[in-house]
Amino acid sequence: MRRKIIIGNWKMNKDRKEAINYLMTLNKMLNRSHLLTDELDLALAPSYLCLIACKTYIARAGWFTRNSVSNIIISAQNCNSEPSGNYTGCVSYAQLKEEGINTSIVGHWEVRALEHPTEEDINKQVLALTNNGMNAILCVGDPKEVSDAHNSVSYILNQVEQDIKGVLIDNLPNVIIAYEPVYAIGQADPIAVGTVEAVIKEIRNKIKDLYNEAAANSIRIVYGGSINSANYNNYISSEQIDGLLIGRSSLDVTSFYDIAYGTSQIIAKNYPSLGNKYYVLKQKEIAATNKPLPDPRHHVKDLNAKEASPDPNAHLKQQPTSEQPNLSANATQDWASKWAKDWQDAKATGAPALQEAKEQERSKEWSEEWATTKASAIANEDWASKWAKNWQDAKATATNNQESALPDESNVGNK
Ligand code: PGA
Repeated sequence: MRRKIIIGNWKMNKDRKEAINYLMTLNKMLNRSHLLTDELDLALAPSYLCLIACKTYIARAGWFTRNSVSNIIISAQNCNSEPSGNYTGCVSYAQLKEEGINTSIVGHWEVRALEHPTEEDINKQVLALTNNGMNAILCVGDPKEVSDAHNSVSYILNQVEQDIKGVLIDNLPNVIIAYEPVYAIGQADPIAVGTVEAVIKEIRNKIKDLYNEAAANSIRIVYGGSINSANYNNYISSEQIDGLLIGRSSLDVTSFYDIAYGTSQIIAKNYPSLGNKYYVLKQKEIAATNKPLPDPRHHVKDLNAKEASPDPNAHLKQQPTSEQPNLSANATQDWASKWAKDWQDAKATGAPALQEAKEQERSKEWSEEWATTKASAIANEDWASKWAKNWQDAKATATNNQESALPDESNVGNK
């Protein structure tokens, strides 16, 4: 069996603080409940501006040390196939790689609709990624009119053939193909499981023609389009479907957790040899207590109760007046002190929690939670000092500007 993968595409949603809160919550939920198999990958695709913060959080938090998932992939949502150059507004694969982001979605329908890349452009992206030791989540899918004309399979196979042209056979495992019918993205319901299976089978046959049987059997092909925590299980239970690419339902950490946990349950049940030791433990635990396990989702409530993030654009919405010459510097200073305070609070709540946990003989679990809090505090501290510096710079520039606006005293009275 191929490793299943659950990919969350956050699109243009979540600011940095929301992204980190999400990861903290997910980490806690997974640590409390343990996924029931090692044979599962999780991936999340935040916006460009949150990628590094997410990656840093995961590296510092000792991500998933106690549950079975040793890794979560942080993926970009798109990338440019040139290493650098005059491409305003773009981010290159090489810039992502430099930041430790080794995966990118390419060819997502929303990018195709906005930027109209050709299949050749998408092929260049896939080659840039795979030739540089990176991974591509390649999205293909048929629009409604193609489906209505019963041309879906040839349309999709043509996309696949063109998009992976020239990918070395050794690099093929670094490509995940996501079949996403355009008319299923952002809708109420996914297309039927049987239809997805039939298309995936055709794609696999195409890979066999282009490469060989082993390559066809090992490449992962996932489905995306209107998957949620109420409908995912039929798709993920299918042997043909190696995972899911989820948009809206990945934005809510509880839904993403439910889908990840449920998938681990399905794998462990259907393939007992792939269940890990936690599966066995969990079954015993359930049998012994005959009670449902505590719901790890209570974290969501705690986090939601926290104060909403300040609006970073608030200063832009105010009309400048003569009394507010340093508006942008002041706004930056507010951010600096806000983040410094958050950091102090996080540090303060981390320490007593650890102490109390020790007394309750739960020190291991709590120390891991404290580590995540601390990691987030360190990330915030980094931000606080960055913003403090920005503010100093902004103040210095404002002062210089003010000084240069003053009349030159040596000229006063010379008229
Ligand atoms: P959706 O999005 O899950 O919200 O339908 C899927 C996608 O855009 O990949």
